[in-house]
Amino acid sequence: MRKKVTIVGSGNVGATAAHWIASKELADVVLIDIIDGVPQGKGLDLLEAMPIEKRDSHILGTQDYRDTANSDIVVITAGVPRKPGMSRDDLLNINHNIMKTVVGEAVKYSPNCILIVVSNPLDAMAQAAYKMSGFPRERVIGMAGVLDSARFRTFIAQELNVSVENVTAFVLGGHGDTMVPLARYSTVAGIPITELLDATTVEKLIQRTRDGGAEIVKYLKTGSAYYAPSAAVTEMVEAILKDKKKILPCAAYLEGEYGMRGLFVGVPVKLGAKGIEQIVEIKLTPQEKSELDRSAASVKELVAVIGV
Ligand code: NAI
Ligand code: 2OP
Repeated sequence: MRKKVTIVGSGNVGATAAHWIASKELADVVLIDIIDGVPQGKGLDLLEAMPIEKRDSHILGTQDYRDTANSDIVVITAGVPRKPGMSRDDLLNINHNIMKTVVGEAVKYSPNCILIVVSNPLDAMAQAAYKMSGFPRERVIGMAGVLDSARFRTFIAQELNVSVENVTAFVLGGHGDTMVPLARYSTVAGIPITELLDATTVEKLIQRTRDGGAEIVKYLKTGSAYYAPSAAVTEMVEAILKDKKKILPCAAYLEGEYGMRGLFVGVPVKLGAKGIEQIVEIKLTPQEKSELDRSAASVKELVAVIGV
């Protein structure tokens, strides 16, 4: 059976994710948006690229949720992105209201799908989607850690002048200024970066990772990053559709793991056909644990504002 991925929001992240997913032939893609013509136009344009790409992915742009029926995965990118001077948290109420309309429609037509939430502020939006969907926690996942870790990996590879393929990294916590890049668990060909770089350089790379979203917003001025975010979504989609059991940092609803309960926080998870198949608990030093707690506390504040 052909796989089907719906992407809600056909803006920068949504359309670019559709591009990656279709060109890797992972699934047929349905693009949906509230702006009349945009999903239809982008969907058709992408479909017409498939003969050149030699891919048989089918792409449909629509405004009718009936076309999304029986999707395996629904990716939610609908919302407003940051502009210079805005934090991700400034988007809270606007995107929460958007989430209220899109989650209901998406799950009505795809009751067995896995939801991947992208809209910001990420952890709070994932929590809102989780509560609105009524899905088990395995099927609601927030995308942030894969992106933040990719940024950290990029900066490590640049600093050491090594292939990005050699670099692994983990960034935990909420997708915000308090995110927790874990240097001890970040490696080059298996060697922790703490063995390869001095503490000041590691701290510099960590700070650049924390500011990674803002760095792009500052350049773009009219919006936020979308190539790396949509590539991150695609890695998660691939892990699920191919049942790869891949360990990736994702926002997950914690029920006691890491000493936290009832909150979406970025942690390492195993992604497979069932969605989150395991939450991987790694040992943290007291300092790392207190940073993770601080990050979770900032997610909690946002979640309290919207009451989810
Ligand atoms: P964009 O403005 O290019 O696209 C958003 C799209 O959502 C627009 O086309 C808009 O018409 C659509 N939309 C708004 N309300 C809708 C509704 N009710 N139903 C369907 N579509 C609707 O924004 P971009 O750059 O694609 O970012 C999307 C969201 O993803 C933002 O909230 C942004 O902050 C977030 N983001 C999150 C990242 C993460 O790491 N979790 C990374 C990058 C972006
Ligand atoms: C990013 O990190 C804006 O959350 C988005 O680029």
